[in-house]
Formats: sequence, C-alpha cells, structure tokens
Amino acid sequence: MTYALIGCGRVAPSHIKAAVQNGLTIAAVCDIDDGNITAMFRNSDPAPENWEAIPRYSDYTELFDTVRPTLVSIALPSGLHAKCALAAIERGINVIIEKPIAMSLPDADAIVSAASEYGVTVSACHQNRFNLAVQAMRRRLEAGDFGKLSNAAVTVRWSRGEAYYKQADWRGTWANDGGTLMNQCIHGIDLLRWMCGDEIDTVYGKTRRQFHDYIEAEDVGTAVIAFKNGVIATVEGTVNACEADIEEHLTLLGESGSMKLGGTSANTVEYSRFAGSARNDTLSEATANVYGNGHTALFADVIDAIRTGRPPYVDAAAGRRALETVLAIYLSAKTGQPVTLPLKDVRSTDFTGLFS
Ligand SMILES: NC(=O)c1ccc[n+]([C@@H]2O[C@H](COP(=O)([O-])OP(=O)(O)OC[C@H]3O[C@@H](n4cnc5c(N)ncnc54)[C@H](O)[C@@H]3O)[C@@H](O)[C@H]2O)c1
Repeated sequence: MTYALIGCGRVAPSHIKAAVQNGLTIAAVCDIDDGNITAMFRNSDPAPENWEAIPRYSDYTELFDTVRPTLVSIALPSGLHAKCALAAIERGINVIIEKPIAMSLPDADAIVSAASEYGVTVSACHQNRFNLAVQAMRRRLEAGDFGKLSNAAVTVRWSRGEAYYKQADWRGTWANDGGTLMNQCIHGIDLLRWMCGDEIDTVYGKTRRQFHDYIEAEDVGTAVIAFKNGVIATVEGTVNACEADIEEHLTLLGESGSMKLGGTSANTVEYSRFAGSARNDTLSEATANVYGNGHTALFADVIDAIRTGRPPYVDAAAGRRALETVLAIYLSAKTGQPVTLPLKDVRSTDFTGLFS
C-alpha cells in the first residue's frame, strides 16, 4: 500500500517508524522546509532503507495529484489539519489526521461528513488508545468488570518551557494550536470520554495562563465533566511542572472495579482491583518518549480498515468528540458558566484575547 507523510517535524519520525513497521511503501513526503525532511529521516528508527530517494514535495496538493497515495498521514501544525485532510478526502485518499483533527467544530464536521461522502477511511491519531495499559482497562470495561461506573479522572502534568514554544510560531496560538488542553491533554481527554461512555451532559471548566506569557492560550486547565450515564469526572492538564514531565494518569472507579493508569503518558497500570480478587495486576510498557508506541498499532488498524472496509478503531467522529470536549472547557472558562453538549459552532479562535 502506498503512503505519504504531510508535515515532517517533531512527531514525524513516529509516523515514518509506523509506516516502515507496517510495510507501507513510502511513496513521497511533503514539507515546506527541506531540512526538516532530512532531519526527520535521520531521526527515524527504523528509517526506510532508500530514504534519500523518496520524492519530496513542498505542496501537498501537488503530491496528492501526482503520487496519488492510498494513505496519507497529516502531521502539520494543527491549524492546517482540516484543509489538508479535506483536500485528501476529496481526492479519495485515506487519511490519518494528527490530533486535534481540526481547530473548529465546523471543520471537524466537514471532515466527518466528507469521509462518509467520499467513502474513505479517516482516523484521528489518538494513538494512546493502543497503549497496552489502556487496552487492559478497555478490556475490563467491555467485559463489564467495573460494574456501574462512579467517577473518573485524568491528569496530565507535563513540563513545556520557552524553548519548546519558540521552536515554531504556531505553538500556543489560538488559531493553530490552543493551549495545553488542546495540545498535550487531548489524548487523556479522548481516553476519559471514551471510557466514560462518550455522551457528555455538561462541562464546567477553568483555565489560566500562569507562567507562559509569550503564548496566547492556557498553560493549565481544569474541568468537571458530567456524563449522561451519571459518571462524573475531573480533568487537570498543565505544562507547568518544574523542568520535567511528571505523569499522565487516568483513573476509573466502578462498583466492582478500580483501575489507575499512569507513567508519563498512560502507559502503565499502576493499580487495579476487581471484586472478589485481591490481586493488584500491574503492567508497564517501555516507551522511548511521551508519544508512546501507539502510532504503529494505529497505522496497522487503519491499513486493515482500508483493506476490509470496516471503520477504523479511532474514527473522525472520535477526533471530533475530543475536540468538542476541549472547546467546551474553553467556552465554560470564558463564560464562567457550565456548558451543555452537544456543541456545534465553536472555534478555537473564539477565545482570542482571553488572557490578554
Ligand atoms: N499524536 C501525538 O502524540 C502528537 C505528538 C506531537 C505532535 N502531534 C501533533 O502533530 C502535529 C505536528 O506537531 P509537531 O510537533 O511535529 O510540529 P512541528 O512544527 O515540529 O512540525 C510541523 C511541520 O510541518 C511543516 N509545515 C508547516 N506548514 C506546512 C505546509 N503548509 N505544508 C507542508 N509542510 C508544512 C513544518 O515545516 C514542520 O516541519 C500537531 O498537530 C501536533 O498537535 C501529535
């Protein structure tokens, strides 16, 4: 199956690794900065054997029309995802879109409906769903081992300083990135919503920009979420940990089971206890960085979805739900009021000037 990568920056080596490990033919890559393409291949492990010979494009529409790959993945700055994804989908090309899939709900809705109109596979790159620890929690949930759910919590306590934000001018902006909830915490928010039954009633959020006055958006956000099935949950996302990432935790408590995932990005089972068994099963997955190992599994799932015609494990609607949750927290933080879902016409740019 032929494949192309659009956007060859920091996260791109995880895409190249996933493509190589899944046996995809890397037909082309695209970036406006040729030096980034070379750096990406040099940082990819494994890198494709013939990487110097892989055609390079600076315009993704030219790549789509010339190369016509079966699958592309989009790892551009977040504000560029929707336009690029729609350009691919309208040409019948299957797409993996890095998170967040878009910066506005109208754009996310356009992606969801274009995917079905053009009959292509579109997956949101929430690769942490494939973490071994997350899969262990999900299996317990689907087996009914938690019983009736009570409450849940996600905490992402990471550290990002000026050097990180100054790497590229899109970082921390309302139009192209958002703050820590939209960038670092959205994986945890995706997991929380997925584990708690997807259907949210209300969201109450508070956000602040405490230490990073050179970015536009928040560096810490908290929220209380009430799900339609009665589960209540909390969110804490921050890049204000001193010098180093501390943890990404996800806790789920039910009548007959408790589980707490941890590590730097929900890649360990720190605690588990189920009724009738005093065993506390723990699990740890080795990872090279906070992106984890999930890209390879997510690519494998998408390739199988394309081949068999089934929906992908993490579809575009799931990407929309994660985006909607973050935008609901932003909206509540702006208005000081609880926000009732579903939301339709909310955009990250609605929050421009919130911390000015
Ligand atoms: N799934 C994850 O765990 C994960 C991790 C990191 C980043 N991401 C997401 O991936 C995306 C990229 O993040 P990053 O950290 O790699 O950013 P980055 O800035 O390092 O890389 C973006 C690349 O896109 C290129 N680019 C910009 N405009 C372009 C255009 N019009 N056409 C072609 N190339 C263009 C830039 O030159 C750069 O090389 C973001 O949406 C981010 O949220 C996801």
